[in-house]
Amino acid sequence: MGKTIIISNRLPVQLEISNGTINAIPSVGGLATGMKSVHSDGDSLWIGWSGLVEEDISEELEPKIDQALAEHGSSKVQLTKEDIDGFYYGFSNRTIWPLFHYFMEYTEFEWDSWESYQAVNQKFADAIVEKADPDDTIWVHDYQLMLVPQLVREQLPDISIGFFLHIPFPSYEIFRTLPWRKEILEGLLGSDLIGFHTYDYERHFLSSVRRLLGLEVSFNDIYYEDRMVEVDSFPMGIDYKKFSETAAKHANRKEEELSELQKRLNLHKNLSPDAKFLLSIDRLDYTKGIAKRLNAFEYFLNKYPQYKEKVRLIILAVPSRSNVPQYQLLKREVDELVGRINGEFATVNWTPIWYFYRSMPFENLIDLYTTCDIAWLTPIRDGMNLVAKEYIATRTDRSGVLILSEMAGSANEMNEALLINPNNFEEIADTLDRAINMPLEEQKSRNAVLQKRLERYNVENWAKDFMGSLTEQGQKEKSYV
Ligand code: UDP
Ligand code: G6P
Repeated sequence: MGKTIIISNRLPVQLEISNGTINAIPSVGGLATGMKSVHSDGDSLWIGWSGLVEEDISEELEPKIDQALAEHGSSKVQLTKEDIDGFYYGFSNRTIWPLFHYFMEYTEFEWDSWESYQAVNQKFADAIVEKADPDDTIWVHDYQLMLVPQLVREQLPDISIGFFLHIPFPSYEIFRTLPWRKEILEGLLGSDLIGFHTYDYERHFLSSVRRLLGLEVSFNDIYYEDRMVEVDSFPMGIDYKKFSETAAKHANRKEEELSELQKRLNLHKNLSPDAKFLLSIDRLDYTKGIAKRLNAFEYFLNKYPQYKEKVRLIILAVPSRSNVPQYQLLKREVDELVGRINGEFATVNWTPIWYFYRSMPFENLIDLYTTCDIAWLTPIRDGMNLVAKEYIATRTDRSGVLILSEMAGSANEMNEALLINPNNFEEIADTLDRAINMPLEEQKSRNAVLQKRLERYNVENWAKDFMGSLTEQGQKEKSYV
């Protein structure tokens, strides 16, 4: 059994150069945080983009960059500024991302960026072929690299290839609008196993394969050329132990060990002990419904004025893809909404919204999770949403209420949360009222069930499950051929 090669656009760290020194910054987003745990305890190499473009890398810096990445078990695919514009900001984030999240109005179909996507996928495939031994297993991740399985298969016909999509796969009616729909499906079918977060995404994919390629599909096996490709759902978990143990450790800290953020949070809790803290954490992305959530919060304060000075909404919006116009517009919209709502409702004792536009270190994330009474996550469409799972894992005393959009993949496994439709302000306002008043006993019984499930199907078991199915598929295929 050889090593596992993980391939994704983002590596576990992003490199930055300042004054000639290289800094490694942890990557954000569910793919990086989840796979990091899998990567750290196995024999694997992670191949991806370093965060730097070729134009920034001098001959002298190159070995230092390779060394910095090697310290994280990683190796780079070298991309140019033009690659990043066409492949990353272009096809990945102006075509596939909006289309697969059902934002048709944001989707651009540009020939140039499609060409760039093809060329960059080829660069990733070549980087894999360069590092791979015949008995290695290749695990390709996410929508930026959907052509890679086929491109690797062309060069290494017998190698084992798995692909996992971290975002939704849309219904056929949406997917069929893509001019390069066949090429994308054929790219994915270079894999032996294709994994999705939910059964619905899997069904959508199979339906597109059947209708667009006319292939024979039996249950979840696709007969393609002389191979058999398996499709299945694997809902991604979290590193449960890491979150629950850090939270437990935080609960036992002495006053002098508290972070500045925790001290501030405690100060405000002490000033009004019966006030409730609502928490929302997302990358600043239009799929996450942040602007809608702010409007819903305003609606709630008008419908239930008794909660003025009694609730505080803490929003952590992590900067993301800020070169894409829609993200810039969203940033402006959120800034304005926060300003307007705070201006409208604030009193000398109370600011209804605390808004952080940055990413936070892990320890601070835990502070937010453990201090806030309610997590309020309302994506309009989300492949999974790991933040919902992380919040529950940190509630070591089992208190806390999770309000979650039914449009998030994680809602399928989190029925004990309060599930809402993110477009229904009436329902959201009533659910906030319900969450604020939920008896502690009910909170605990809901969270006990959720915690048990999350602990059992953690990220390690998710990866084992995927890799186990990939191995089995290899054996099944041999007997098929
Ligand atoms: N996260 C982070 N830094 C932050 C805020 C969040 O690393 O400042 C992490 C968070 O812990 C979670 C991930 O980013 O693991 C977000 O994953 P999710 O599946 O919720 O959404 P995605 O960003 O992948 O769409
Ligand atoms: C989502 C995607 C990941 C991506 C992450 C952060 O989780 O599924 O593939 O890495 O968002 O986005 P970024 O564009 O910064 O990599």
